[in-house]
Amino acid sequence: MTTDLTEAVVDSLKDTTDPRLRELLASLTRHLHAFVRETEPTMAEWERAIDFLTATGQTCTDTRQEFVLLSDVLGVSMLVETINADEHGTDSTVLGPFHMTESPVRELGADIDLVGGGEPCVVSGRVLSLDGTPLPGALLDVWQANAEGFYDVQQPEVQPAGNGRGLFTADAEGRFWFRTCVPSPYPIPTDGPVGDLLKATGRHPYRPAHIHFIASAAGHVPVTTHIFVAGSEHLDSDAVFAVKESLVQDFAETDDPSLAREFGVPNPFRHARFDLVLNPGRS
Ligand code: BEZ
Ligand code: FE
Repeated sequence: MTTDLTEAVVDSLKDTTDPRLRELLASLTRHLHAFVRETEPTMAEWERAIDFLTATGQTCTDTRQEFVLLSDVLGVSMLVETINADEHGTDSTVLGPFHMTESPVRELGADIDLVGGGEPCVVSGRVLSLDGTPLPGALLDVWQANAEGFYDVQQPEVQPAGNGRGLFTADAEGRFWFRTCVPSPYPIPTDGPVGDLLKATGRHPYRPAHIHFIASAAGHVPVTTHIFVAGSEHLDSDAVFAVKESLVQDFAETDDPSLAREFGVPNPFRHARFDLVLNPGRS
């Protein structure tokens, strides 16, 4: 009888004109029904599940995406990311819920830390094609939390809009460089239903220190990624399972007065250097 029910629902989808939508809904139905058959939830448990999803939706605003967060902590974002990843070039990782405003256009060398107070650092490198050819004019969208671990959109009363964000254009040799503060590990938002889920399962909410990037260039597949600070706490227990070894970068203590002068930072300073490699092809 229960299998008949599953097949009746799948059969009800037969007039779906989009074949991919039909495939996705049929598979979702079969997996959801299998989950219910396996776990046999009580009526009270099912109501609790519906309440949880309702609260997740009700927590979403223009600047808060609780469903993305749910997908992140369940490892689904990372799974979708991995399935779609281009195996060449710089590894990708999750977008996260804080890329929701347009980053301000900034000149190379600008400081994206508009507030100060953190440990100053320089991030520099090149955007390259897979064969090592530099990509002049490549675009680099950058965003990070402040030294206390909050994004600008989480603290509109405290941080100026655009703090920790920048849209940079690589120079004629594909080079980029900008100033910021060394990011800190931070907890993902825990004041909503996803936080309740983490508490109920005894999980910590922390992400290791990182800076987000989306790199794009004409004729190349864009990459959405982070760099993680080598030695950061929680590299081995990221709340959203997004760490890849290849993305962990040294933010090296650098004592070089002439380089510090060139970048406009006090000497010594921390310096992360890495190249972003894009794959030509699908773009
Ligand atoms: C982030 O790194 O911005 C992020 C990613 C997933 C969940 C929460 C935050
Ligand atoms: Fe982040």
